[in-house]
Amino acid sequence: MLSINPFAVLSESISLIFIQSFVVFMILLVIVGTLIDIIHKKNVKYFFENAKKAKLSATKTLTTSEKISVISKTIVSDIATTSELGAGQRRAAHLLGMYGTILFWAASVIMIFCYSSPSSDTPSVWPIIWHMGAIMTVVGGSWFWFFLRVDVYSEAQPWYRIIKADLFVLALIASSLFGLAWSFLQSLNLNDRWDDKVFLVFYILSNLVLFGGVYWSKFAHMFYKPGAAIQKNLAEADGSRDNLPPPADAPEKFGLGIKREEPKHY
Ligand code: HEM
Repeated sequence: MLSINPFAVLSESISLIFIQSFVVFMILLVIVGTLIDIIHKKNVKYFFENAKKAKLSATKTLTTSEKISVISKTIVSDIATTSELGAGQRRAAHLLGMYGTILFWAASVIMIFCYSSPSSDTPSVWPIIWHMGAIMTVVGGSWFWFFLRVDVYSEAQPWYRIIKADLFVLALIASSLFGLAWSFLQSLNLNDRWDDKVFLVFYILSNLVLFGGVYWSKFAHMFYKPGAAIQKNLAEADGSRDNLPPPADAPEKFGLGIKREEPKHY
């Protein structure tokens, strides 16, 4: 199963152009969903206005090479390792899910567009990356959803309480899990049995929810967060600090209470 390109097998019964059009449609859904989100929330407008306002209180003009250095450091630390999440389980779960998803999506696109025609042979590295990416996403996403969600971890809500904010993580887990189940059942060559087809339908539906739900879900944070991290670090470097006061030049004194319990009430 791990080294079989499931889309190449699927293209024996469904036209390849249909499968490719589905991917293009998903990409369009993400673009449209994000644009509507930006127009509705006016978050990008606010972001640029705020950045312009903050610039007025800059104490230093950054040279191009300083800006490149700040942006590169942000990409390596804040974005590639999601350092905002600190050390610990939250960051580990996010990294698993994030890199799993990137591998899963990248391998899907490469297998569908380069290796699914009847004449092509898929190098086994791509199906392996696809399956590993899906497993990482399921593990990282489930770790986050079952154990680390703020409402479960800190607010004593039961793990099975589902709210709109869970749409993204649940659709992400579902699409990877159904993709894995479909690929596994299809690799068993069940011929006229219905099992793999049912999971293929679930895989398609969960992708429609994931990519069609961008406007309602947290999907677009993967675009907003990197932009916000770059702006924050540039504002730190030019001294404007987004018009926030500098850290107090005094020892940290929070009283003994701070040591009694790990901070987890958000
Ligand atoms: C393919 C890219 C990414 C995927 C698949 C992904 C996935 C996720 C998921 C599933 C969640 C949990 C959402 C929820 O609260 O229900 C999440 C939260 C979060 N993500 Fe991402 N993410 C990606 C990229 C990024 C990037 C680039 C950053 C930062 C630069 C980032 C920062 C965060 C933060 C700060 C949270 C909140 C975590 C918390 O509530 O503890 N993510 N992400």
